[in-house]
Amino acid sequence: MSGRIVRAAGTLMLVSLLSSPALAAEPREPFDDRYCTTCHGSDGRGNYGVQAPRLAGMEGWYLIRQLENFRSGVRGTHPQDIEGIAMRPMAAKLDDESIADIVAWVGDWPYVPAEVTIAGDSAAGERLYATCAACHGQRAEGNEALGAPALAGQNDWYLVTQLKNFMAGYRGSHPDDSYGQQMLTMARTLVDEQGVLNVVSYINNLEDR
Ligand code: HEC
Ligand code: HEC
Repeated sequence: MSGRIVRAAGTLMLVSLLSSPALAAEPREPFDDRYCTTCHGSDGRGNYGVQAPRLAGMEGWYLIRQLENFRSGVRGTHPQDIEGIAMRPMAAKLDDESIADIVAWVGDWPYVPAEVTIAGDSAAGERLYATCAACHGQRAEGNEALGAPALAGQNDWYLVTQLKNFMAGYRGSHPDDSYGQQMLTMARTLVDEQGVLNVVSYINNLEDR
């Protein structure tokens, strides 16, 4: 059987799984959790329409942490965190084995930098980014030892939403979210929406990691 037929069969199976009301009652099969692309886009490139960010190229350790955070309610439970609330039920049904499967699956997707969609003063953003670089790296390539993810190549509209959410305390204020708390403090150094747009506009120049 050719690879194309196998993939087509897989897609059909996914469609029938998604539309099957009996699904919840059936025991979990390995790899039956691949509904992620319905929101995160084909090849995990992100989808502005439902505000779901790019997953392709995301570090495995960060992906695991966020899925665990959503599952336990450390993220996605603040009443003003509209997008986090949409994501939380998707993670709530995953067990550790599913999360490991998903990380391996997503790890195969090629890294493709997202399109630029916002405008800001990138020179002003470069000065602001000097603080961020200490954790996220000079090229926004991420730093596992500090728990700070890569930002380069992520959807800019998603980075803007997250920075505003941290500033407002919609993300990062849960008492068990120690990484989010660090980031909340850092986001407030950006002061206002213009600061957010400027720093993200600079990060948009750092695609080549
Ligand atoms: C109903 C739509 C939907 C589905 C299905 C969905 N997600 Fe999400 N996901 C979102 C949205 C919206 C966000 C953004 C949350 C936010 O802004 O805080 C998100 C955020 C995330 C994040 C956080 C990314 C980051 O940079 O912090 C991860 C990781 C993630 N999703 C993984 C998955 C995986 C894996 C699946 C499949 C098991 C999945 N999602 C299914 C909508 C969805
Ligand atoms: C003290 C280290 C530190 C500094 C400095 C820092 N961050 Fe972070 N940042 C983090 C950590 C840790 C996380 C992960 C939070 C989590 O696990 O939810 C994070 C997460 C983020 C996210 C969310 C990414 C995603 O995929 O959801 C954005 C956006 C971000 N940082 C931007 C910035 C910007 C812009 C600056 C500079 C103003 C900055 N950070 C400074 C540590 C830092």
